[in-house]
Amino acid sequence: MKTTISLSTPSHPETEALVAVVLDHADPAQNEKNKQAKPQLKVAAKDATVQSAASELLSSGEVTPKPFETNLLHNPAGLKAKRLLLIGGGSANKFSSYELRRVAGTAVRTLKSRGIRSFAIIAPPSFPADEAVRAMVEGAVVGNFDSDYYRSDRKDQKIDAITILAGSKADKAALERAAVEAIIIGESQNFTRDLVNEPSNRMTPTILADRAKKMCTEVGLKCEVYGPDKIKEMKMGAFWSVAQGSDEPPALIVMKYEPAGAPAEPVVGLVGKGITFDTGGISIKPADGMEKMKYDMAGGATMMGVMRAIALLKPKVKVIGIVCATENMPSGHAQKPGDVQIAMSGKSIEIINTDAEGRLVLADGLHYAKQLGATHLVDAATLTGAVVVALGMLNAGVFANDDAIYGRFHKANEEAGEKMWRLPLDDEYKEQIRSSIADIMNTGGRWGGAINAAMFLQEFAEDIPWIHLDIAGTAWVEEQKPWIAKGPSGIALRSIIQFVRSFVQ
Ligand code: BES
Ligand code: MN
Ligand code: ZN
Repeated sequence: MKTTISLSTPSHPETEALVAVVLDHADPAQNEKNKQAKPQLKVAAKDATVQSAASELLSSGEVTPKPFETNLLHNPAGLKAKRLLLIGGGSANKFSSYELRRVAGTAVRTLKSRGIRSFAIIAPPSFPADEAVRAMVEGAVVGNFDSDYYRSDRKDQKIDAITILAGSKADKAALERAAVEAIIIGESQNFTRDLVNEPSNRMTPTILADRAKKMCTEVGLKCEVYGPDKIKEMKMGAFWSVAQGSDEPPALIVMKYEPAGAPAEPVVGLVGKGITFDTGGISIKPADGMEKMKYDMAGGATMMGVMRAIALLKPKVKVIGIVCATENMPSGHAQKPGDVQIAMSGKSIEIINTDAEGRLVLADGLHYAKQLGATHLVDAATLTGAVVVALGMLNAGVFANDDAIYGRFHKANEEAGEKMWRLPLDDEYKEQIRSSIADIMNTGGRWGGAINAAMFLQEFAEDIPWIHLDIAGTAWVEEQKPWIAKGPSGIALRSIIQFVRSFVQ
């Protein structure tokens, strides 16, 4: 998608569609007293011509302040644009870059389905211009993705070009740089979503590794892929215990970004769960909904997308990306409940449930990242159904073994506009994963399941500052939204990119 920054007034550009945000300026306090209080709808633009083109519609009472509601006007009076698309942004005093991203996504999805290929969008004047450009470009690129890959009637409609009307006083060169970065981030998010969208027969560990190699060559990263022999030779007993049940060979993907001039430390280690299909293994899952387990490699695909973005954004900080890719299958050579496995770190693990496989592959991935010199760790995984019970599909779960690293991550997360919520890791929870035959067991009972899984991972992160992201409930959009297609969300990628960049800003 081509992006242009323009400083001209919104009434001037000749465009297929001019897009503007409509905000409700009604006093919220008054609304509470009097539920009938009338919305005060205004277009978020300084331009009087745009205001007056929209005024009749806005005062008609037909437009509600509902976020992401769209209204399309043809031949708007006084404008050179062929159409004026008004998009609801909700209450003016709650309107943040989180909503602005979604407005841009909504614009893309509304217009492309009407066969329109380009439009101009007004940056709301209440934002710093660069923040508005970043949010709108990221949101627009994300909105341009559709997941209906294998439908014969796939239209593959795309917006090819957008113009951002940034206001006459903006610093054009700075905004153009912001737009280039936002394109990199949005396209990396779509790169991740593309991988996650593929079903398991088209995204085996080998194919995922090939995609990693191809991407790394394109953006100039080092990439190494290790197969079964090397995984066994390195004594990755936890990773191998999952891989041993499948006829598809596993892949340990190692991507390295080592820019000239970066300090020796920090070295950020990113570890992703890459289960290309999770049947549960011998502790097999029920058939109902099992097809969704093709997205169990979303954490791994996220780390690949992050590495892509980092290679293009070029921050001066070292990053290592590791993806532990395998299927989790039942078979004559699958591991069984009760088996004891020795992880790469030397810790012994009693397998209680073979469906708790993500933490096993991550255990060796985290240990390996430390061996390669990581001073800070982030992992992302569709790890537990329990995190979906706890937080639903809105917030991803965040765990941290250190308040300072949590603070840094939380700031990055807010800047990235992704919803996440911290869950606890008290030492007392360790009881839950104590085994009588081995050092730990791989499940900790029914209650607090997301925490038990995180406690297990902490045994392998040990005292290295570490963030664990459980994205089981948020990696897949169950129902299409005005701003995003049904399917893979690409959650966590933007926050992790910001986190990495926080070390150089
Ligand atoms: N991949 C699943 C978790 C999952 C659930 C992802 C729902 C996406 C949506 C994971 O490997 C798993 O099976 N976890 C088990 C752990 C249990 C056996 C302790 C779970 O959550 O049921
Ligand atoms: Mn599982
Ligand atoms: Zn899984």
